[in-house]
Amino acid sequence: MSTVDLPNSNSGLHGALTVPGDKSISHRSIMLGAISHGTTTVDHFLLSDDCLHTIGAFRELGVKIDVDGDHVSIEGKGGFRNFDKPKKPLDMGNSGTSTRLLLGLLANQPFDIAMFGDASLSKRPIKRVSDPLTQMGAKVAATNGNFLPLTLHPNDGLNGIDYKLPVASAQVKSALIWAGLQAETPSHLTEKLITRNHTEKMLEKFGGHLEQDGLNITVTPQSDFTAQHVTVPGDISSAAFFLIAGACVPGSEITLNKVGLNDTRDGILKALDQMGAQYTINNRTNDSEPMGDITICYQQLNALTLGAADVPALVDEIPLLALAATQAKGQTVITGAEELRVKETDRIATVTEELTKMGADITATPDGFIINGGTKLHAANTPLQSHGDHRIGMMMAVANLMADGDNQLADADAIAVSYPQFFDDLKSLNK
Ligand code: S3P
Repeated sequence: MSTVDLPNSNSGLHGALTVPGDKSISHRSIMLGAISHGTTTVDHFLLSDDCLHTIGAFRELGVKIDVDGDHVSIEGKGGFRNFDKPKKPLDMGNSGTSTRLLLGLLANQPFDIAMFGDASLSKRPIKRVSDPLTQMGAKVAATNGNFLPLTLHPNDGLNGIDYKLPVASAQVKSALIWAGLQAETPSHLTEKLITRNHTEKMLEKFGGHLEQDGLNITVTPQSDFTAQHVTVPGDISSAAFFLIAGACVPGSEITLNKVGLNDTRDGILKALDQMGAQYTINNRTNDSEPMGDITICYQQLNALTLGAADVPALVDEIPLLALAATQAKGQTVITGAEELRVKETDRIATVTEELTKMGADITATPDGFIINGGTKLHAANTPLQSHGDHRIGMMMAVANLMADGDNQLADADAIAVSYPQFFDDLKSLNK
């Protein structure tokens, strides 16, 4: 539960940085590696607490995984049902992605699998995944029907499902893809809105065959996947902290190398376009997932309007966009973002509480925010709080760069969930 002094910025951020690997893609590389035939190798893997919980779970299931710096190799089990019976419950830590995706991937095991998580994860709903899995024949015994800890019991086989997802969630979609691959008949999934498609892209790379048509996905049962080499792009959700710092701290000009540019994830760039930010993208490459180098410099930003259709492509970046809106000209209105209420914290509440401490004119609404811009942020009377939420902690550190006065951040350890070297990287640009 560490408290740290947050840096200010005197003359802006300068220089270049390669942010750590994408969290969503890192999780999925372990999962696909574990069920494939052969040894999968991964470069630029994200060694953060969340991804280490996915590695830990598969090791408990008997999968051999070697980690050497950010290079990981996974000896595949060649199918969904060749795992070892775990000797103890799987520890999911703070990771919603590990929990939801593994529920689908492990929905058809011949033995009991118990899972638990930390206090925050134990408050996050899993019914969104366990309900459709139950319809498919899975046996999920969750606390109060909706929470960790839970146990997956053996079942009599999974059947395919025709399912319209009630929430726009890549975690739910991915869990149902994993389960659909193990079912006896095809499944037809219809998304509410397009969400991040890393599972679909990686499946294809490993030899999977999904049929996709806009919001519709057909999953045909399949269990033969072939190990691959995966290069994980830099996480655009981690790059986003520096994109917003670069755009909002006067005098800044920074380059973020090899950032993932998947068009189901690049909503932050479209939001920055709308706000009038100045950035360029160079050195684009595309190996299953597109990436490129983004250079951004300070520019007075304009207010932003975001609605439900915009949310999935920037869902994790909304706390940062709320911060950017406090510095922009005019009134920002964000609606359709009620999913923020069931993230690592209720991010509508925690963003509003923390930015208000620094003088922001921000009002929480049931599904978003109204923010009047043009505020000079200042020192808070009480320490700023991450609330145990990595993205809130890092957003407040970026807020302090543009503030007058000194601030401390309590519970800063949470940042290791997705970006253990965040403060070192920030220091390297804030000279
Ligand atoms: C993720 C999907 C999103 C996102 C989370 C990672 C994924 O969650 O917020 O950080 O890797 O599939 P939802 O699917 O709940 O929107």
